[in-house]
Amino acid sequence: MSAPDLDQIQSGALADVAAAGSLADLESVRVAHTGRRSPLATVLAGIGGLPPEQRGTVGKAANLARRAVEEALAARTAELEAEELGAALERDTTDVTLPGDPHPLGALHPITQVRQEMEDILLALGYRIADGPEIETEWHVFTALNTPAGHPSRSPSDTFFVGGRPDRLLRTQTSPVQVREMQASEPPIYLVAPGAVYRRDDIDATHSPMFHQMEGLAVDEGLTMAHLKGTMLHFFRELLGSEREILLQPHFFPFTEPSVDVQVSYTDKNGRPGWLELAGAGMVDPNVLAHAGIDSERYTGFAFGCGLDRIAMIRFGVPDLRLFFENDLRFLEQFA
Ligand code: PHE
Repeated sequence: MSAPDLDQIQSGALADVAAAGSLADLESVRVAHTGRRSPLATVLAGIGGLPPEQRGTVGKAANLARRAVEEALAARTAELEAEELGAALERDTTDVTLPGDPHPLGALHPITQVRQEMEDILLALGYRIADGPEIETEWHVFTALNTPAGHPSRSPSDTFFVGGRPDRLLRTQTSPVQVREMQASEPPIYLVAPGAVYRRDDIDATHSPMFHQMEGLAVDEGLTMAHLKGTMLHFFRELLGSEREILLQPHFFPFTEPSVDVQVSYTDKNGRPGWLELAGAGMVDPNVLAHAGIDSERYTGFAFGCGLDRIAMIRFGVPDLRLFFENDLRFLEQFA
């Protein structure tokens, strides 16, 4: 095979490569010019049969031709791929260079934010989080908590009874979690139990038939009122600012003795100082310990409960409780 033949084969192949208008055409061109039955393959296969003095030159020329054709094929493939991609993008009206549609990020509800802050303060003191059912028995909500029959909170005008059953009701406080946890575990017990509670109240700026409380319970050897006071002072300073003072005012709860109202200092808009009642608390009544099967000779305990929503109102300066439950994004977005 002479050199002009190879030149012809090469230029024929290169012309076909250049003329291929699509990747599919180019594939046929590749098979025709570099495949097993192509003229170039025939030349290469015949080299062994040439007179020895020709093998070197023809072999070299044939390999150069093959390389030239392969390079042209690779270059044309890249060109056609780019063209076809461009055409596809033009057909598609999507502009892939535009920034994507922003995906709106959610945020935690302000009540959840405050709940988590409160939990964190107590978790750092070694408390654990406990949970209890919202549909409770009268025994857990009232009897075990030393609340006598005939107490106004046991009346259907204050409490939602479920399905007309006198012993099934929506818990009016998170305190029954104290009872369940004391029954289920041995002291030392340090727990915090946040959750929803229900009372028959008409809705207004400071009342809702559903709201949230957070219960705290500590039962151990040697706990006194001093531990309760220190815990409350630390808790409210962490939550509302280190300048806060607290005042314990005598109060009554059936399940604590003595009982107190925890008041926290604040300054109003006009700079006048005052006190806010933010929690109920007290030393766990020995009867309550006994009801839950805890040795009241050996252990003492203190408990506290506060309204999460009310603290969130103060914390965020929200004047109306209803805003928290209306799910208006214009309101909620301000806490994101
Ligand atoms: N459960 C009481 C209430 O709802 C608050 C409280 C909790 C008081 C624990 C004392 C101890 O008002």
